[in-house]
Formats: sequence, C-alpha cells, structure tokens
Amino acid sequence: MRKKVTIIGAGFVGSTCAHWIASKELADVVLVDIAEGIPQGKGLDLLEAGPIEGFDVNITGTNSYEETASSDVVILTSGAPRKPGMSREDLLAINADITAGNIEKVVKTSPNAHIIIVNNPMDTMAYLAYKVSGFPKNRVMGQGGILDCGRYRTFIAQEAGVSVEDVSAILMGGHGDEMVPLPRYTTIGGIPVTEFIPEDRLNAIVERTKKGGGEIVALLKTGSAYYAPAAATVQMVEAILKDKKRVVPVAAYLEGEYGVSGILFGVPVVLGAGGVEKILELPLTEAEKAGVAKSAALVKDSIAALPEKYRNL
Ligand code: LAC
Repeated sequence: MRKKVTIIGAGFVGSTCAHWIASKELADVVLVDIAEGIPQGKGLDLLEAGPIEGFDVNITGTNSYEETASSDVVILTSGAPRKPGMSREDLLAINADITAGNIEKVVKTSPNAHIIIVNNPMDTMAYLAYKVSGFPKNRVMGQGGILDCGRYRTFIAQEAGVSVEDVSAILMGGHGDEMVPLPRYTTIGGIPVTEFIPEDRLNAIVERTKKGGGEIVALLKTGSAYYAPAAATVQMVEAILKDKKRVVPVAAYLEGEYGVSGILFGVPVVLGAGGVEKILELPLTEAEKAGVAKSAALVKDSIAALPEKYRNL
C-alpha cells in the first residue's frame, strides 16, 4: 500500500513540501487549497517533473477533501503569512478559523492520520488542532524546532568554518523569539561547541537564531520563509513514514514534562511511526529552566488570546 500525505495550503511552504516529498519518493501527495486551479496546476507541474528528475509518486491537486481520504500524514500550512513588522501572534485570529475548519475536515476524511501543524502562530495552532481533532496526543504535533535548529546549525557552521553536517544541536520552547537554544547540548563532530566558538559569539548566534524567521521576512518583504520550513516538515514526515525514531525538537502536547502542562511546546522527542513516541526530558540549568518557563508562558498567553469559542475546547 502506497503512503499518502495531504498538504493543506498550496502556497510556498506547501508546494515546497510537495517538491521534497516527491523528490525523496516518500509518498503520494495531495495538495489542497481553496484557490481554484492553483493546487491542480502546481500538482500537475510537479508530477511532470517526475520523468525528468526520476521520481515516481502520484501528485494530485484539489479544492476538496475527497481525494485526501485515508492520508497517513496531513500537513497544515494554510493561513496568512507574516508581513514585515508583524509578529507570528498577529496572525492569531485569521489563522485560528482556517485551522479549526480544516482540522474538522481532516478528522472526517483521515481519522488515523498524523497531523503536522506548520502555520503560525504554530504552537497555538497546534494546540487548536489537538483540541479540535480529539486525536491522541502522539498524532498531533507542530513543526518549529527542526527549522529553528536548522538556522542555529547553519550559523554555528558558518562561524566555526565547519560542515553543517557535523553540527548537532537541540533547542526547546515555543516557535517564537523566546525559543531556547541549548549551547550546552550543541556539538561539532561530537566535540562541545564551546571548544570552537567563544561565549560572546555563541550568544550572538543564539540571538540571531531566535529572530531567524523575522530576518527572512524582513528580506522577502512579501512573505515568510519556505525552503527551511518545508525541509523541516519533510524531515518529520520521513521520520514518521519510515519509522526512523529521529531525536528532534517537535512541538508536542505536554502533561507535566519540564513543568509544563496543557499546551503543545517544543521539546526533544523520539519521532517514528507512532508519531511522538517519547518525550525526552533533559536535565536543565536554572537559567535554561527560566528560559523554558518564559517561553511556555508566552505560548499560554497566545492560547488565552484565541477567540472565545476556541479557548476551552
Ligand atoms: C519562520 C516562520 C515560517 O520561522 O515561522 O520562518
């Protein structure tokens, strides 16, 4: 039986996810969007790249949910992106209705799917998706940490003058400017990063990472990042479909881990066929714990700012 991934939202993030899922031959892809012709056109265009690039998966574009039935993974990218000067939170009210409406349809058409939330503010939208879907907590997750780690690893590799392949890192917290990179758990070829980069430069890299999404928005001016967000999402899809048991940061529903409950929040997890199979609890310093608490409080504030109807699901 071929695997099937539905991507809701055929914008830049959604179509780039489709591109990488196809080129890695992970699954058949269904692109869904409300804009007539766009998912169909992008889907057909990508399908026609198959004979040239040498991938063999089916790619369909649609404006309805029928073709999405029985998906293994559903990725939610639909929603308004940020414009320069906007925070992810500014998107809250617009994207809450879009998320809730789409998740209700996913529940009916793909009741056994894993749901990956990409749209912003991601942590809050992931919370909403978890509550609206009623799915078990292991099957609803948010993408943010792998992206943020990708940025952090890029900057570390540039600074140290080494291959990005050898930079291994973990990062915690909400997908916002108060995320918590953990230099103490960052290594280059197994060697602590502090052997390569002095503390002041490392602190500057941490600060740049926290604002990494905004850096791209400021450059693009008409939208936000999509290559790295899509790559991060596809790494999650691959971990699930191939049961890879990847150790990656993912926004997962917490019930007391790290002193946090009742929200989806970026933590290191084991990601495999069971979705979030395990949440890894690292020992943290007092300063790291304070960073985590601050970031969690911001996610809770964001949830509290949801329209009334979504607050107590
Ligand atoms: C970013 C947006 C997509 O971090 O959240 O680029």
